[in-house]
Amino acid sequence: MKPIPVKISSVGTHVPDRIVTNDDLSLTLDTSDEWISTRSGIRERRIAADDQAASDLGAVAAARALEAAGVRPSELDLIITASLSPDMLFPATASFISGKIGADGVPAFDLSAACTGFIYALATGSAFIASGQAEKVLVVGADVVSKMIDWTDRSTAVLFGDGAGAVLLEPAESEQEGILGFDLGNDPSGAGLLSLAAGGSRLPASRETVESGGHFISMNGREVYKFAARIIVSSARKLLGETGYGVDEVDLFVPHQANIRIIDAAAGKLGIPPERVFTNLERYGNTSCASIPLCIDEAVLTGRLGATAGVQGKNPDGSGRSESGSNKLVLMVGFGGGLSWGSCLARTGDIKRIQE
Ligand code: UT7
Repeated sequence: MKPIPVKISSVGTHVPDRIVTNDDLSLTLDTSDEWISTRSGIRERRIAADDQAASDLGAVAAARALEAAGVRPSELDLIITASLSPDMLFPATASFISGKIGADGVPAFDLSAACTGFIYALATGSAFIASGQAEKVLVVGADVVSKMIDWTDRSTAVLFGDGAGAVLLEPAESEQEGILGFDLGNDPSGAGLLSLAAGGSRLPASRETVESGGHFISMNGREVYKFAARIIVSSARKLLGETGYGVDEVDLFVPHQANIRIIDAAAGKLGIPPERVFTNLERYGNTSCASIPLCIDEAVLTGRLGATAGVQGKNPDGSGRSESGSNKLVLMVGFGGGLSWGSCLARTGDIKRIQE
């Protein structure tokens, strides 16, 4: 049976109201706006309220994506949530999101692939549709990494932010408006480089795990940096090669928003000019599983993707690469703990979002 083509029909996002700037962080940490912005590109991030968990952000993003598409929660065939900061170890955050949006009875599960989770969830949801097992799949990336951070550790505290993004996947008319392929991978030798060690079955919660900081994210930043700069390039090249596209055909490159230096280095090596690279990490930091849908949403909002993009034959940058906003070629690349990576190449047509 021929796989059914899959498209991203709509997007919705939500970030907490509270903005924490680099200067705010330098009041309590031995750091500075200068260090954070030059080393990472981040200027501020959103931080969840004490009573906000991943599903609280994810449910708002999910409801917005559904409203934009005009789809009722009960019409969904599946909800997949990617998160490294789930509400609980179980039940799934997807179950809480389902309850909040009113999707009783709809299958809902979580997927764990650290910051690459959104791309893995996109691939999983697409496979359900491609195989004919589902028609409407909601993919939600929701993270409140701020709850997993040691706020006295300047090497991690300055990098992350909270947020959520959701997309609705549906069958496409043709591949020309759909997802063209994925490249997924994982290097288990780097599992110790980025982790939250305690609270699972390996190191159950105890006084010792609390006192030793085992419930916080720990990261070897330098090694993860090297991995990311290398893997974005190799994964993107592999996927472009397999799908038969040239890098010059990519209208928008949407990398995981971890560090502007990683993004610039990878884009430079791939030969993608800055005007075709999407970044917003200066305002959100690294929002883990939410970073790519937050970019997609903003790209639609600002006319770089979707129905209004490239109207009158011109892109907002004036390049006129595509005749219209439809069928833009988007390359998304994620990476993170695992060490995992994932790329998705898609032709995006009219991605709907609600007007606010
Ligand atoms: O979703 C994926 C998750 N993670 C990533 O993608 C992170 C990848 N890694 C990175 O983005 C970078 O490695 C960092 C931004 C984390 C660090 O940048 P770096 O250029 O690799 O800095 P470094 O770790 O080599 O540290 C340089 C110096 C050190 O001081 P010494 O040893 O040279 O005296 C650190 O102690 O900067 C110091 N430092 C800080 N100084 C001020 C580390 N964090 C801070 C800070 N403020 N927040």
